[in-house]
Formats: sequence, C-alpha cells, structure tokens
Amino acid sequence: MKHQATIAVVGSGYVGLVSAACFAEIGHRVICVDNDEEKVHMLNAGGVPIHEEYLPELLSRHQNGSVEFTTKLHEATAQADAVFIAVGTPQSDTGDADLSYVDAVASEIARSVDGYKVIVEKSTVPVYTNEWITRILERNGTSKEAFDVVSNPEFLREGTGVTDFLHPNRIVIGVENERAAKVMRRIYEPLTSGEYYSLPHAVPGGRTASNPPPLLEMSTKAAELTKHATNAFLAMKISFINAVANICDAAGVNVEEVAKGIGMDERIGPKFLRAGIGYGGSCFPKDVAAFRWVAEQLGQQFDLLAEVEKINNQQKKLFFRKIRSALWTLRGKDLAVFGLAFKGGTDDIRESPAIEIVQMLLKEGSRVTLFDPAASERAKAVIPEGPQVRYATDMYEAVRDAHALVILSDWQEFAAVDLDRLRQTLRHPIVIDGRNLFDPVLMLDKGFTYFSVGRPYPAVGTKALKDR
Ligand code: UGA
Repeated sequence: MKHQATIAVVGSGYVGLVSAACFAEIGHRVICVDNDEEKVHMLNAGGVPIHEEYLPELLSRHQNGSVEFTTKLHEATAQADAVFIAVGTPQSDTGDADLSYVDAVASEIARSVDGYKVIVEKSTVPVYTNEWITRILERNGTSKEAFDVVSNPEFLREGTGVTDFLHPNRIVIGVENERAAKVMRRIYEPLTSGEYYSLPHAVPGGRTASNPPPLLEMSTKAAELTKHATNAFLAMKISFINAVANICDAAGVNVEEVAKGIGMDERIGPKFLRAGIGYGGSCFPKDVAAFRWVAEQLGQQFDLLAEVEKINNQQKKLFFRKIRSALWTLRGKDLAVFGLAFKGGTDDIRESPAIEIVQMLLKEGSRVTLFDPAASERAKAVIPEGPQVRYATDMYEAVRDAHALVILSDWQEFAAVDLDRLRQTLRHPIVIDGRNLFDPVLMLDKGFTYFSVGRPYPAVGTKALKDR
C-alpha cells in the first residue's frame, strides 16, 4: 500500500498486540517490542497469548511479513517513523496511574532516536503526560527537533478489539504541529480514505469505503482528557442504570423497559445501559479512579466519579445478597457458576466482579463448580481448585446436581444454553442471573425459579405479559 510506514509498538498486551496486528493489516510494517522474552518467543512461534476475535487470523496473515516481535526497543526505534507506547499504566495505591513503565520506555527511546520520530501515547495516561514524555526525552539529550509527542488514545473493547480498531467511531489524534500530524494522518489513511474496506480480506464491521471513520485532531492535552472522560462517562452510564435497576427491583418494574425508553432519546443513546453486577476489567475501575485523581490535582472536586465507584462496589454486594436470599443459606450449598471473565468474549479476569462474587460465596461456605469458556486457566491462579472449588469443562457438567446456577459473565453461549437440559441437570431449577441473559417469563414457563437484576420475578399467571 502506498501509505506504508514503519511503526514500533512497545508493549504486547491487549492494546499493543491488537494495534500491532491491525497496523500490519492496514499495510504498515510493524515491529512489536516487549521486554518479556518468553512472550516474544511465543509470539514469534505463532502463539497468541490472549483471546481476541480475529487476532489469530491477522497475526498469522502478517507474521514473518509485516509484523515481527522483538525485545530490542532501541533497534525498533531506530527503524520506526512512529513509536507507539502501549505499556501498562496500572493503578497505584493512591488511585493515580503508575507511569513508571511509560517513564522507562521513554528514557530508552530517548537513547535510540537517530532521526525524526513521532512518539505516540497509546496507553491511557493522565493529562500532561505528553509534557513529561517530552521532558524525559530532552533530559536524555534528544533535541527538540528530533521528535514530537502525540496522543492517540484507543477505544478498543477487549474481545472485539480488532473490529473496534479497524471500524472505529472516530480516531482521536492529539497533536501540536503539522509535521507530526502528517505522520499520523498517513498512518491512518488506509482507514480514513476508506481504502481498507474495499480489500477482499478486510475484517467486516460497521465502516465501509463510502462511510470511513473521521480523524479528529485536537491538542495533545485534549486527547488525553478525551480518553479519561470517555471511560468515566461510560462507567457513569453503567452505574446510573444499575442504580435505576435497584429502584426497579424495589418498585416491581422491568429495568429493560426503562433502559429502552431512555435509550431511544438520541441525547442518551441505547448503549451501555445494561444493568448487571457492575463494571470490571482493566480499564473502567482504574480510569475512573485516575480521572478523579487528575481532577483533584487540578484543584477540582469530581465527586460524581466517587459516587459512580460507590454504586459499582455496592452492585456486587447487592447481587451477592440476592443469591443468599434466593437460597436462604449459602453454607454447604453446591452452586454452579457460569462466567469468571469481567465480561463475555474475553479471557481477562482483571477486576472481574465475577471473581469477587465467587470469593464472597466461598467465604460464606458454599461449594462452587466454575465454568468459563476462556477464563478458567487465568481464574485458577486466584481461585485455585480445592475442596470447595471445582472447574468444569462445559456448562452441563458445571450444573450437575447443583442447588442453583449463578450467572456472572455475559457470554453468548450461556444465553444459548438448552434450558430444558439445564433444568433437568440442576438439582433445583434455580437460576440467579447477574447479566439478565434470559426473559423472566420464558424462564417461568420453562419451570425455573429465576432471579435477575432490576427485573421483577413474574408471578404465576402473568403469561399475558408475553403477549404485550
Ligand atoms: C472499555 C471501553 O469500552 C473501551 O472503549 C476502552 O478502550 C477500554 O475500556 C480501555 O480503556 O482500554 P473494556 O474494558 O474492554 O473496554 O470493556 P467494556 O465492554 O467497556 O465493559 C466494561 C465493563 O462494563 C464490563 O465488566 C462489562 O460487563 C460492563 N458493562 C458494560 C455493563 O455492566 N453494562 C453495560 O451496559 C456495558
């Protein structure tokens, strides 16, 4: 492709690896750097360390051609037009983002800059990080003319990261001068021109050649803030609907009807209004805390975010109480659990509300049989097998003889379970669903005692509900 650039991506976690594969997919040469030798070796041998739709296909399509993996950051920097920093920015004890990995990478990049480079923040970072990176490069002797720092936040969801990258709502570029802007425009041109979408092998998604994504240019600080504000807003939407769901529970109203009613208002929108057990994952919990910290540092109180966190923490406890009240006592009960990942479609268990709820069940003396289509191996590291804990290899094995089924992640395959077989396999036909995967009326018809979030348990004789 005519826009080809050489891109170094530093970090091969979810963001780095997906970005590396997608940059190769849109025609660039990519050198992906990680300091974990074992991981680099695995990637070079064709392994894929994470569960992500389309990622194995893209990596095998471009490996040994346009994507390579290495531990040598300086060699990658020397060859690259742009260096994307996609290393972790975990939460520190005080709530702010720990930027030590970004710091270390920036210092090393500084020692390898031998011509003009664009250094791109891809990881989620607080406002002003671009200025720190600039300072680090300068302190390490890199001249001002030899580089620019750009913010290009990602909006990828785990599980659908490849599609989100290639079919984005928008591409945000925080940039301070035309020289750096040109490099960034060239990198994304296969998407913004629509050219990529006409290719026969293009990954399918919402964008087409005639409806390509916009590239939004703004100041670097505005781009940094856009990322934090986006995640904080989405987390707020989830906490909002969860608080509404709790009112619905008390008032005997179905929260999904309310969510539909408010979501059709274009100013609100229908997405991220699914009530459940609270948000988790490696982004929302840490980013809400980090954004609150940023606000505080800038002398602003953003108490709304404290409330968002509070509702989210309560939601797990409320659901746990719902399980307890459905079963009366938890000690000695055999419970089947579907879902350990922080949501369906991923093997990631970081900050997973499912893991916390299982730990609460164990503390109360329940025995659990756990099933997750992708996250069991990772879960075993935090919830090891033992007298109270077993892992099942499929849904029906998990529910055999269980007193009840508890659903904690929204995997599509859970929603497609054979309900008749499920009822026959459970010891008692009780389902406590933290993700609202089933229609309460259908569950009643199928003979289940069914509890979900913000949806009243339909009384026997309410079949008319179905015909409304
Ligand atoms: C999130 C954002 O959606 C991405 O745009 C962003 O790029 C990413 O964080 C990041 O900053 O790296 P992700 O954490 O992969 O992506 O997951 P989401 O799909 O956003 O879900 C987050 C959590 O909210 C999950 O626990 C999910 O189950 C929960 N959720 C989501 C709800 O409870 N209700 C909803 O309606 C939506």
